[in-house]
Amino acid sequence: MNEKPLGRARSPQAANSAAVRPKLFRLARAAMRHAYAPYSEFRVGAAVLLRDGRVFAGCNVENASYGLTICAERNAIFASVAASARKPEIVAVAVCNDRGMPCSPCGACRQVIAEFGSQATIWYQGANGIVGHTLPQLLPDGFQLENDAPS
Ligand code: THU
Repeated sequence: MNEKPLGRARSPQAANSAAVRPKLFRLARAAMRHAYAPYSEFRVGAAVLLRDGRVFAGCNVENASYGLTICAERNAIFASVAASARKPEIVAVAVCNDRGMPCSPCGACRQVIAEFGSQATIWYQGANGIVGHTLPQLLPDGFQLENDAPS
């Protein structure tokens, strides 16, 4: 089951505490090992921490029809939706890859993170190690419909 509670995350600050981040990366790395990436050979893992403390992980899954490839981040997020009766609220995301390369979420994944975690912190490999940025920093002036989507 793709559900590994880390305990309750009472606030985004708590969710991003030094204790939680390594756990998120551990789960992201575990998922990364399941990546299906025969075309790019670039394996990515992601873990999303929800407000209620649950964590969901995902890996990239490629396809012979390249455009059908789905990123690790979106797979993790969609898994969280499938396991949640209500709209999940993402407070943090960790992304890793098997090459230690700088790898921030692509634009499509940023837009999907925005749907479920408009204030989330995203941790990923930057040019000089792990960096953390908020979603508004990564997707300034992102698209949204006038009203929030219902839960
Ligand atoms: N990829 C991800 O899974 N997440 C990212 O943040 C960037 C790119 C995947 C998609 C594709 O399978 C491979 O990396 C190369 O683009």
